[in-house]
Amino acid sequence: MNMEPRLATLADVAALAELEQASFSGDSLSARRFRHFIRGEHSELWCLGDPIQAYALVLFHRGTSLARLYSIAVDPAARGRGFGSQLLHCVEQQALRRHVLFMRLEVRQDNIAAKTLYESSGYRIIRTLKSYYEDGADGWRLEKHLKPTVAIPHDLPFYAQTTPFTCGPSALMMALHSIDPDFTMTRLEELNLWREATTIYLTTGHGGTSPQGLALAALKRGHDVTMWLSDRSIAFLDGVRSEHKRELMTLVGEDFQARCDRDGVTTDTGVHTVADLRLALAQGNRILLLISTYRLNRNKAPHWVWLVAIDDDYAYLNDPDIDEELDQVATDNMYVPVSLDNFGAMIQYGTKRYMAALLIR
Ligand SMILES: CC(C)(COP(=O)(O)OP(=O)(O)OC[C@H]1O[C@@H](n2cnc3c(N)ncnc32)[C@H](O)[C@@H]1OP(=O)(O)O)[C@@H](O)C(=O)NCCC(=O)NCCS
Repeated sequence: MNMEPRLATLADVAALAELEQASFSGDSLSARRFRHFIRGEHSELWCLGDPIQAYALVLFHRGTSLARLYSIAVDPAARGRGFGSQLLHCVEQQALRRHVLFMRLEVRQDNIAAKTLYESSGYRIIRTLKSYYEDGADGWRLEKHLKPTVAIPHDLPFYAQTTPFTCGPSALMMALHSIDPDFTMTRLEELNLWREATTIYLTTGHGGTSPQGLALAALKRGHDVTMWLSDRSIAFLDGVRSEHKRELMTLVGEDFQARCDRDGVTTDTGVHTVADLRLALAQGNRILLLISTYRLNRNKAPHWVWLVAIDDDYAYLNDPDIDEELDQVATDNMYVPVSLDNFGAMIQYGTKRYMAALLIR
């Protein structure tokens, strides 16, 4: 029998569903989900044997250096023969080919076989997951640096935005909590910050939050704020066609900037590079960054993230926007490594390459 790993095809779905049923009592993947992942651009499903003896499913996180081992299973009759570790090694090698640096996964605390397999393959626990599974069982999240580089900071705050328009407030809450652990990240605060900082309109839906609005909100909470802007234009106005919307956004934008100037937010316009951001981090600033999500999900939306760190190869972001369609969970969005090439392009928004960063102390 050929025991080289191969990518699954739609013809394998029935066998995969059968293997799944034999391997998991709850939280199992349906045939429909297998089809979805086999077809998906951001997932790879590898299997071993014909008939199939084992499979491993990996999900990739667009534009970043993170992948998630979503599931792995070996036919009960074929366990203990090294198939699990063979497939795990295979998917890690495939991930490295896609320039993935970190593989993350979840495992039930009572799953001794899987946990031993992962730990003997170099994974380490990064988080305890209380009542994570369908039957209430606890889990662990594990991670392996496929090419070890940096250590993830402990107790890094994370807050997932609860509306499509509150990335700015959510990123700001994480940064403020990291400065002052007594600052609590709540949904009400998320909404209050948005009401203080919103541009009112954006192209569709509710407005987002502007750099000036967020700067004023941080200032009001007792912090020193410096804004790095490529220019003093009104944020996000470019894509807005409606004259009525543009008029209101201009009124609000001019008022925000005037209040920043009056109340002591420093506005520093001009070109700011990745090296400047790295230096500002080293000087102890918390940095909120406006990024273009084009590199992440091909939507050209402006999006606020918290820039946690930069090293020689990667920038690390806490991204408040969890994409459930990509089966993301909170820790997929924590300390997300982005190669500096990608990052350099991400921090310039739109054709005018608008850049906005808030340095908060
Ligand atoms: C976990 C699973 C994939 C392991 O597959 P496998 O092919 O049996 O594992 P391998 O033979 O490659 O074993 C590799 C290592 O895992 C560990 N391991 C595997 N089975 C184990 C068991 N029953 N008890 C303790 N450790 C075990 C050992 O460290 C082993 O190395 P060793 O043989 O040198 O001691 C398999 O048990 C399985 O399909 N379980 C049900 C589905 C599941 O729980 N998936 C994981 C979800 S997070």
